Amino acid sequence: MRLEPVTEDNYRAVIGLEVHEEQRAFVATNLKSIADAWIYRPKLQPLALFSGTDLVGFTLLERDRPDALHIARFMIDRRAQGRGLGRKGLAAIADVARAEGRTELVLTVVPGNAVARGLYAAFGFTDTGEVDEGELVMRHELAPSAHLADQ
Ligand SMILES: CC(C)(COP(=O)(O)OP(=O)(O)OC[C@H]1O[C@@H](n2cnc3c(N)ncnc32)[C@H](O)[C@@H]1OP(=O)(O)O)[C@@H](O)C(=O)NCCC(=O)NCCS
Repeated sequence: MRLEPVTEDNYRAVIGLEVHEEQRAFVATNLKSIADAWIYRPKLQPLALFSGTDLVGFTLLERDRPDALHIARFMIDRRAQGRGLGRKGLAAIADVARAEGRTELVLTVVPGNAVARGLYAAFGFTDTGEVDEGELVMRHELAPSAHLADQ
């Protein structure tokens, strides 16, 4: 899984990625996220997720604390879900955080988003008990790792 900048060449395809209808309440559209990133640049960074040459997802990373990388948005296109790409995307984001010397990943998730909560828990995120604007705050402490998830 590769994380690539959102550019003139790929932004239309990134905007074309979509989640299942019943997942729409769980994440903003990529169009909204790219607008947010422009307004709040450079604190927010939009990234396209590629599996080989296929564009399969999108993430919006936020850097507001030196020790943590905040995953503000994360989605895998509905046609590519259920193939382990969400897990690989998180691993690639964790590698970015480690490369920057950060020690934790932080995100929030809608309480009813069972698939995402299951994925995050399996990856090593734990509930902090905090609630931010109705969403559960989860964090994952990063152990230094020798391998990089660049498959
Ligand atoms: C959450 C999301 C990113 C997961 O992406 P994915 O590529 O399907 O994830 P994976 O294939 O790596 O699967 C993750 C786990 O969820 C499970 N899963 C995937 N789709 C599922 C479904 N429809 N129902 C139940 N479990 C499901 C998988 O079995 C896997 O668990 P396992 O490792 O124990 O087998 C994706 O569902 C998504 O984009 N959802 C909409 C946006 C969203 O909710 N983003 C998160 C905002 S916080």
